[in-house]
Amino acid sequence: MNNVENSGSVTWKAPSNIAIVKYWGKHGTQLPNNPSLSLTLNEAFTSTSIDYEIKNQPGLELDFYFEGVENVEFRNRIFKYLEIITPHLPWLKFAKLTVRSTNSFPHSSGIASSASAMAALSMCLVDIAELVGQEIKDKTRLQSYLARLGSGSACRSIFPHAAIWGQCKGIPHSSDDYAIGFENLHPVFKTYRNDILIVSSEKKSVSSSIGHDLMNNNNYATARYENARQNAEKLYQIMSQGDLQEFIQIAESEALQLHALMMCSSPSFILLEPNSIAIIKKIRAFREESYVPICFTIDAGPNIHVLYPQEYAVVCQEFINHELKAFCEQERVIKDYVGEGPKKLI
Ligand code: DP6
Repeated sequence: MNNVENSGSVTWKAPSNIAIVKYWGKHGTQLPNNPSLSLTLNEAFTSTSIDYEIKNQPGLELDFYFEGVENVEFRNRIFKYLEIITPHLPWLKFAKLTVRSTNSFPHSSGIASSASAMAALSMCLVDIAELVGQEIKDKTRLQSYLARLGSGSACRSIFPHAAIWGQCKGIPHSSDDYAIGFENLHPVFKTYRNDILIVSSEKKSVSSSIGHDLMNNNNYATARYENARQNAEKLYQIMSQGDLQEFIQIAESEALQLHALMMCSSPSFILLEPNSIAIIKKIRAFREESYVPICFTIDAGPNIHVLYPQEYAVVCQEFINHELKAFCEQERVIKDYVGEGPKKLI
């Protein structure tokens, strides 16, 4: 073990991602019940730095600061996570860690932070693993694997542009254990913009872990998993070829399916607001009359993610400003776009 550094510091920033084929339903330790496919974002990210020291005595020690303030609730959650991943990073047993984390987006923005947070943390941990002399065969795979153990969708945030997570016959090398990058992605998708229309920034009424759980008793679960599998395979082809009309069809169907599943769960949840529906209708009408390939996707909340290629940015932003902003809370729109994935800062 040459050049082992028993203390030091690493910093990474990692972005959030937006699923086009949705992960909704899981088993075991964050294993997905269907494959999912996402675009990696750029502007919504978490920056995390870890100061580490390897002690002679066993006993993991952890301090956690969020936005510069010590946060015991987050610290305890991360501590549990570190215990879970210790079999993969045995040196953690002897580690003293100080973790500092900040988000580029406000807490009230309706953007889930678990994907970027767990991706940034796992990027840091895998770097430290190398620095303390752990031998790692496939670094990217381990980064994605560890991120998954923190939050399922986080495993997709490790890759530039787009990622696929979940074993799928038609997608070579896909796996339930970790995500893979989208190798043959058509260049148009690297230019995609994602404007998030904030219909409401209130805390959502169903957390994703409760949402995943609800799928266990949902009568439509089997049909959903089969359809998601087909959609992932189709979308993989579509996004290799650059067929925007087919992309739109699957993206919108997936978004509405996610909400349909929540509506027919027991208990049932309606997360869309009247303004969410108004925006959806406006987007569809505008697309029909203009032939602009604009569409939407939605996460487990009321906010609408508007997707379109950069080439149409001027006309789409004009449409959003004039027709959609009025349906947003304080006219709030968060602008994001497809990005290059995590970046090492120090
Ligand atoms: C609707 O990854 O947040 O955003 O694995 O329990 O942490 P956990 O869930 P999480 O679920 C994401 C759900 C989703 C769809 C998606 O991102 O695929």
